[in-house]
Amino acid sequence: MTVGEAWVWLAVAVGLPVAALLLVLVAGRLAGGLHMTTRVFAAVHSLTLGVGSTAIVGAAYQMSSALLGARLWGERVIPWQLGIYLAGTGSLVAGFWYGSLVLLAWGGSLVTAAAWVYVAIMLRTAGRLRRRTGPTGSRQGRPQWVHALAMALATVNFGLVTTWGLVLALSMRYPLWPGLWAGHRGLVVHLALGLGGWFALMVVGVSYRLVPIVHGARIASQPRGVAVVALVTGAVLLAVAGALGRCGWALRLAAALIAPAGALYVWELARLLQHRRRRAPDLNVSHWWAVMGYTLVLATMGLGWAAGLVGPEHGERLGVLAAALFLAGWVVQAILGQLYKVTPFLMWYYRAFIPDVLQISRLPDLYAPRPGRLAFWLTNAGVVLMEYGIARADGGWATAGAVLLAAGCGLVAWKLGYSWLPGVVAGRLPFRWRRREGASG
Ligand code: HEM
Repeated sequence: MTVGEAWVWLAVAVGLPVAALLLVLVAGRLAGGLHMTTRVFAAVHSLTLGVGSTAIVGAAYQMSSALLGARLWGERVIPWQLGIYLAGTGSLVAGFWYGSLVLLAWGGSLVTAAAWVYVAIMLRTAGRLRRRTGPTGSRQGRPQWVHALAMALATVNFGLVTTWGLVLALSMRYPLWPGLWAGHRGLVVHLALGLGGWFALMVVGVSYRLVPIVHGARIASQPRGVAVVALVTGAVLLAVAGALGRCGWALRLAAALIAPAGALYVWELARLLQHRRRRAPDLNVSHWWAVMGYTLVLATMGLGWAAGLVGPEHGERLGVLAAALFLAGWVVQAILGQLYKVTPFLMWYYRAFIPDVLQISRLPDLYAPRPGRLAFWLTNAGVVLMEYGIARADGGWATAGAVLLAAGCGLVAWKLGYSWLPGVVAGRLPFRWRRREGASG
């Protein structure tokens, strides 16, 4: 196992069950309109930092060597960075959960420092690659503008959202900027940078590189992809400017831009999957369809709010619905779907159960094991039910949905995170640490 794999393992085997459990505990509060409470913040950050960001950082370290052929700059600091990031995330989540501003400030500082180390490593590595292969960063000489642009912007946004989160946390203790709390201005900036700038751009960027590779199809239109990235970036900038400048039209325009961005993105993804080379059952494809479905629902919500179809009395509930759908649905489905694809090349699960790694790509239904399908339906049914509970302000339904979601996440955590351990313990499966990222095989 490499350090990159260790990041992903921690996200799947530790972060996912913990976040799912906390979500079960706070789902009732979400439905009851109590989303601005520290316990909910703890659950949210166990998901955003403990699962989403941990998995993305680990996969980026692991994949950048494998996909780009570039050795990571500053590889030696990564184990230290992992330690700092884990300590920070644990302290931040505990700080929220127990209402301790000291733990929160320490945790936020460590996470922010680790995030900027990630930004430095990725941007320096991209710089190396660019010098070696030309402006597009592709060894094959094909343009990878969407991938490169979206990844670069997302990476910088990771540094920005954690820094802004730290500013918010410090403002809770020291009133640095009292106006920050009026009308949730500070929170809107944080959400725009985190959900739009970091997660959405990262998933778009990764999908433009990974989906064509693993499904053997070509991107139909790079300009369409650039438009998606520009629209999401525009929405993030408008939301930040609108919140800080108290400008209602900028916020509405930001929400409206989600619709064309989402429609163009779904158009490209659907086309790519329809042209995929193999028709064997594939969980990765199912997860992308779920992501597409959630994208369209989120786009409709954004458009509805921008057009003034939702009265001010329902605006905040719609915001909670959208954020919960995005984090528990969109982000979780995008990440789980990729785990089934990247594991064969990189990780433990398939090595444990399929001894001949070269056989992997020839297996007919490799990517649709039954527990994975069950987890797919459990997680999606859970999200739908939870949304229903939040929309109806019914804590029972919201909690029932969170329980289903947690069951699906627990199944994935067991399958990908732990089911290989008995083989290692019994000595049937060799386990060793490798220093170099991406030196798979
Ligand atoms: C990937 C990084 C992050 C993401 C995606 C993220 C996301 C979020 C979300 C979705 C909320 C709203 C929760 C709700 O309304 O129930 C929130 C609130 C908050 N986050 Fe983060 N967060 C991130 C990192 C951080 C960090 C590193 C800190 C530092 C301590 C932090 C501090 C806060 C604070 C203080 C709030 C409450 C703000 C308020 O009361 O208005 N966040 N975050």
